[in-house]
Amino acid sequence: MPPRILLIEDDVSAGAAFEKVLRKAGYEVLSVSRGEEGLAAAVRQQFDLVLTDFKLPGVSGLELISKLRASQPRLPIIMMTAHGTTETAIQATKLGAYEYLVKPFEVDELLDLVASVVEQSRLMTEEVELGESHSAPRALVGNSRVMQSIYKQIGRIAATPVTVLIRGETGTGKELVARAIYQHSERADKPFIAINCAAIPETLLESELFGHERGAFTGAQSQRIGRFEQASGGTIFLDEIGDLPQNTQSKLLRVLQERHIQRLGGNELLAVDVRVLAATHCDIETAIREKEFREDLFYRLNGVVIQIPPLRERREDIPSLVEFFIQRDAHALGVESPSIQSDALSLLGDQFWPGNVRELENAVRQALLLARPFAINPEHVKQVLAQGRKAVSVLGAGYSNYVRDLLSRVQRGEEQDAYARVIADLEPELFTQAFRLAQGNQGRAARWLGVTRLKLREKLRQLGLHQ
Ligand SMILES: Nc1ncnc2c1ncn2[C@@H]1O[C@H](COP(=O)(O)OP(=O)(O)OP(=O)(O)O)[C@@H](O)[C@H]1O
Ligand SMILES: [Mg+2]
Repeated sequence: MPPRILLIEDDVSAGAAFEKVLRKAGYEVLSVSRGEEGLAAAVRQQFDLVLTDFKLPGVSGLELISKLRASQPRLPIIMMTAHGTTETAIQATKLGAYEYLVKPFEVDELLDLVASVVEQSRLMTEEVELGESHSAPRALVGNSRVMQSIYKQIGRIAATPVTVLIRGETGTGKELVARAIYQHSERADKPFIAINCAAIPETLLESELFGHERGAFTGAQSQRIGRFEQASGGTIFLDEIGDLPQNTQSKLLRVLQERHIQRLGGNELLAVDVRVLAATHCDIETAIREKEFREDLFYRLNGVVIQIPPLRERREDIPSLVEFFIQRDAHALGVESPSIQSDALSLLGDQFWPGNVRELENAVRQALLLARPFAINPEHVKQVLAQGRKAVSVLGAGYSNYVRDLLSRVQRGEEQDAYARVIADLEPELFTQAFRLAQGNQGRAARWLGVTRLKLREKLRQLGLHQ
């Protein structure tokens, strides 16, 4: 189902223009011109996002936001304001608007923001089921002993306000677990705000988390409300917490200890009531030993730890995961009666799966496509696995030759800054491929790469892939 947007704009031609752009980008749009109509529609129907003008006849923008926030606390709101009205925009974020856009804005800016807010909304509203499920698009599947104990743990801690640290290799389902905790918590009807600490540039991260006052640093032209303040009463999910810069670690520790935040450049202590969930794939113990991660922060986060074991340590989950992915993806891939032969299934069970459930998920999808319209057999699986291995081994051999070469050139003084050289050599390929694979969807490509959209766009521009 395409995401649904409620558009409230009294200027008919502007409204029509936004609607067209959004529809073209694949959204379903209900467009109304008055605040009252918007409020009524938001109660009657389900939306993923409200995009509203600030200046409206009748119910004003601010009133609209506080009413929406009261009746639908999980519905994200983007407010559009005219140039020079930042004060109201800030007022709006305090009342619960998730973001604001200053008119006039570029279409790209609108679409990027809408995409990221819709993603936030999806995290909040798309239910994660626990245990066997063959109907939900998102579920934590697997009946191994450890997964069962994880479901129990989620049940036990969800309703308590404790901070939870979710640990596990890449692709093991950390984000799903965070969402399940939120959905089973007493705060399930309040906002859930997810922040990928690794994807936000170091210089912007603190302001993103805690906000800033006007003039707090060069470029801080107006006040900004941070995510902690916005999540008030709700839950914040700090993903990739192992990547938090040292300075920010200290500030976060203070917030967790004192339950207060201070905007950058501000003196006021603001009480925040936010439940913190964090996740990391990093080896934090080593990071602590190397003084890269604060031990005291680790112990603060460490109150409850959910450790998700890698897939290779719970192979008994593989059949139900495969079955789940087959049933879920077949429809979208146009496969009518999807199935898998038992020897193909046991072949999948024998693999090492360094990329865990995500890797298995991709392999199943490819095998379905290869086999279509027949059952997946061992040959299909071998072919998919061989493709994956080829990519890795070619790179593997290529890599070490490349590095040896580079380092010997550095030794001979023919080259310097080896680190920068490697980055410069690989970056174009990485960005180009990710952009193509995401079929031009910048938000998705940025997420895959773990960089901000801004960074992605800058790189694409350098590569001539974006104006
Ligand atoms: N137990 C599970 N049952 C069903 N799907 C799962 C399970 N675990 C993970 N997945 C799926 O695998 C993919 C990766 O999961 P998720 O993003 O939660 O992992 P992660 O641990 O946050 O990974 P990363 O460290 O890369 O951020 C998602 O598509 C998710 O739906
Ligand atoms: Mg994740």
